[in-house]
Amino acid sequence: MINKVEVSTPGKLMLLGEHAVIYGRPCLVTAVDQRMKVIGEKVGGPGITIDAPDVGIHDFEYKPGDGDVPKGVRFVVAALKNFGWNGGLKITTASEFSSEFGFGSSSAVTVGVLKCLSELSETKLDNKHLFDLAYKSVLDVQGVGSGFDLAAAIWGGTLRFVTGGKKIESLKTKELPLVVGYTGIKADTTTLVKMVSQKREGSYGIVEEIFDQVESLVNEARVGLEKGNWEQVGGLMNENQKELETLGVSTIELSRLITAAREAGAWGAKLSGAGGGDCMIALADKPKVIGKAIAKAGGVVINVSSGAEGVRVE
Ligand code: MEV
Repeated sequence: MINKVEVSTPGKLMLLGEHAVIYGRPCLVTAVDQRMKVIGEKVGGPGITIDAPDVGIHDFEYKPGDGDVPKGVRFVVAALKNFGWNGGLKITTASEFSSEFGFGSSSAVTVGVLKCLSELSETKLDNKHLFDLAYKSVLDVQGVGSGFDLAAAIWGGTLRFVTGGKKIESLKTKELPLVVGYTGIKADTTTLVKMVSQKREGSYGIVEEIFDQVESLVNEARVGLEKGNWEQVGGLMNENQKELETLGVSTIELSRLITAAREAGAWGAKLSGAGGGDCMIALADKPKVIGKAIAKAGGVVINVSSGAEGVRVE
């Protein structure tokens, strides 16, 4: 009988295709080597305690049926409900990355909790089943999302992903020469997704055309990534950034870091994720030079490696 288990899940970076992926298009995502740790321990009695100090939650006692739970534990609670967990439990989470970066901390926690529950109950869950439970949990909490971040947390590596997990393909790529710059501004994904949705409704098909162009960029970039043709992928990132600017999700702060990276010689640079803040990424052969330029433009450089391993039991 297993009484205690520790699992870890990687964070993610969207490479190309954000927003369009909500509307049936593919995107490219890579798992990064900064991880979320989740520890699950069976305890006597029926109580469930959640300790998530990174998000200001200290030994929160959850009673099944409680409707209103603090924001920091909503994904944990949704995962417990969707798994159908019964019995005493302590869940502890600890992240190597800040929840402010947009590295997908909520998705990483959701996957981590479900993996812990499957181990503790000795229930076999294959990756697709784990994805479906995690996706339902995320939609229960935030109502929107393509699920690409869950796929990165589960499969790891670099993926081509289609909305809702309709297609999840692992790509064969070398380590990507990525430089990541954080704007210092936390973006609200749900608000940005809703904003794009409203634009799409009133756009007479123009936003759908943008998404079609993004789909072509993503498919070309997939080939470039597998061939290690960074110059080509960088150029496609620049084009994707233009489309994101047209959608209105880039900001002055993101543009400043993106321009700095390009002027310092990056093959390409774009925002990564919903926009509105969070991080930008650049593809470059001289990461130190690009990192310096990003820092000079006011960004915080975050060192990550791409293609990290998916969820694992530690
Ligand atoms: C956010 O990181 C990326 C979006 O495409 C949302 C999603 O795919 O869930 C904007």
